[in-house]
Formats: sequence, C-alpha cells, structure tokens
Amino acid sequence: MPGNPLAITLCGIPLRNPVLAASGTFGYGIEFAKIVDLNILGGIVTKGLSREPIPGNPAPRLWHTEGGMINSVGLQNIGVSAFIREKLPKLYKYSVPVFANVFGYAVEDYLEVIRALEDAEGVAGYELNVSCPNTKHGGIFFSSDPDLLADLVSQARSIARRPLIVKLSPNVARIDPFAQAAEQSGADAISLVNTFVSLAIDPLTRKPRIGAGYGGLSGPAIKPLALRLVAQAAHAVKIPVIGLGGIASGEDAAEFLIAGASAVQVGTATFIDPRAPAQIARQLQGVLSELALPDIGALAGHMKSPCRAQ
Ligand SMILES: Cc1cc2nc3c(=O)[nH]c(=O)nc-3n(C[C@H](O)[C@H](O)[C@H](O)COP(=O)(O)O)c2cc1C
Repeated sequence: MPGNPLAITLCGIPLRNPVLAASGTFGYGIEFAKIVDLNILGGIVTKGLSREPIPGNPAPRLWHTEGGMINSVGLQNIGVSAFIREKLPKLYKYSVPVFANVFGYAVEDYLEVIRALEDAEGVAGYELNVSCPNTKHGGIFFSSDPDLLADLVSQARSIARRPLIVKLSPNVARIDPFAQAAEQSGADAISLVNTFVSLAIDPLTRKPRIGAGYGGLSGPAIKPLALRLVAQAAHAVKIPVIGLGGIASGEDAAEFLIAGASAVQVGTATFIDPRAPAQIARQLQGVLSELALPDIGALAGHMKSPCRAQ
C-alpha cells in the first residue's frame, strides 16, 4: 500500500493499518458493518469459536470497575459450523483481513475448529486463545504450562496452512517461557494480553458481582501491566508481537508499538464506541506526524531507553 504510512505486513498479510478489533468485543465483525466501515480497519479478530455452540456463563456477566470492567461471558459462541455458514460469507465481501479466534478444552477441540476453517474461504489466519483449562490434564490451563502450550501449538501448526497467532495469558509469573514455547512450536506471531483473572464482591450480599465468581479484567486499568508484558515478550522472541490491553487512544497504541509490538488490538474501548479501532488508527497517524516519522516501522520497537531486567 504505497503512500500509506500506517500500512504494515503481519505474518505475510498486508494490513492497511496496525489496529485490529480484538476478540470478543467486536462480535463476528459483520454485526458492526452498519455502524463501522469494516474496510478501514487493520483487521478483525472474531469472537472465540469452538467446535460446538456454547451458551456461556450465568448472569451477571459484566461489572464496571475503576478504569475497566470484569467480564465472564464464558466464551459464548455460535460454534464454528454456524460461523462458516452464516457469518463468513457476509464478511467475504469486505476487504478487511479476518482472523478466527479459536479455543477448546482439549487439543483435539482446537484441531477440529481449525480443520473446519481450513476449508473455508475468507479467513486470513488463526488466533489461538490458550487461556482455557485442558480438561484432559486435570483442568490445567494451556496458558499456564509451557509444555501443554507447546504441544497444542505444534499440533495446531501441523494442520494449519494459514498464519497462526498464539494469544497469551497475563496470569503467569513470567511471560518469556510462554512466548518462547509458542515461537519454538511454530507460531507465526503471539498476541497478548488476554484478561487478568479478577474478583469484585458486593459487600451487602457478600456475593461475587459476577455470576460465575471470578471474571477477566480489561480496559485502561490493565494497560501498564499489559505494556510491561508486551515489552518483555517482544524482548524474548523474534516473531511479531501483537499488543493489547486497555488501548483507548492513538498514543496508547503508540506506546505498545514502541515497546516492541508490530500491531495492536482494541477491545474494551469498542464497548464505549464501536468506531474506536478506526479512530485509534487515525490518531496513530497523528502521532507519526507529530514525531515527524515517515511510517509505523520508524516507531515500532524504537524505545529510546531500555528497561532494566525485573
Ligand atoms: C466481553 C469480552 C469478551 C472477550 N472474549 C474473548 C474471546 O472470545 N477470545 C479471546 O481470546 N479474548 C476475549 N476477550 C479478551 C479481549 O480480546 C482482550 O484480550 C482483553 O479484553 C484485553 O484488551 P482490552 O483491554 O482492550 O479489552 C474478551 C474480552 C471481553 C471484554
């Protein structure tokens, strides 16, 4: 895309800008087509897809916190077959790259979803949500054990012909072993962060504010934590890193790019305004102009003073 300072190539896929809509906050993409011009987005990551439809968790599922929100939607989705039948053909008429977010509770679940999508047209790549318990291994989260993660990623790699992005959880003591396990098992990129496990309690009822108990914290409250993890992950691997967590402005996006991300995703900000990803891309162009930089490449990974090891 000559002349476009925001254009990047991610895992071989040309994107008109480095700002994608994050999984779970932009539906399957097509629902937003009436209010957002999908063709101006860098990309769309779909709601997580499983092999069968999932009804989700009991209400209440959302709770507002200072600077963020806790959710426990429970990965509710229509299932991969309905996505391919009902959503994908409608998305196909747009030129925006669509990344399918895939999850499961056993390696075979992930593989089944990828196999189904491999035969479908209109998917640019896969993002594996690994923040799920592996029910075949006593419920240990794929995202909390580098060996389980490596096994999942290498099996997914062996069947996926399209680019594979592995979305890491922030709920770990150190991020580098997970970033490296994903890279060594064949991931084309990693994205981080997913939500932080959190809790809110109503003191009057003494019950959790969320029906399922714990939920995932997202939004501006997590941004400094996410930024630190993105910087550390980018330092640990050579594959591209996609940064997210609380991004709500072009300057926020610039911070993640400077920390070493090649692209960013916008989640919770989309709940306030569905046009947020497009607006953030525009603001990012303003940041480039202010810094008199020719393009995104001149910003990404160019932190002036390195952080000391923690
Ligand atoms: C309501 C809601 C649903 C989400 N669903 C998914 C999902 O299906 N798969 C996934 O990988 N991440 C999911 N996420 C996590 C987001 O994609 C993102 O990683 C996280 O919210 C942090 O970014 P943010 O602060 O910009 O929202 C969800 C987040 C929210 C708030």
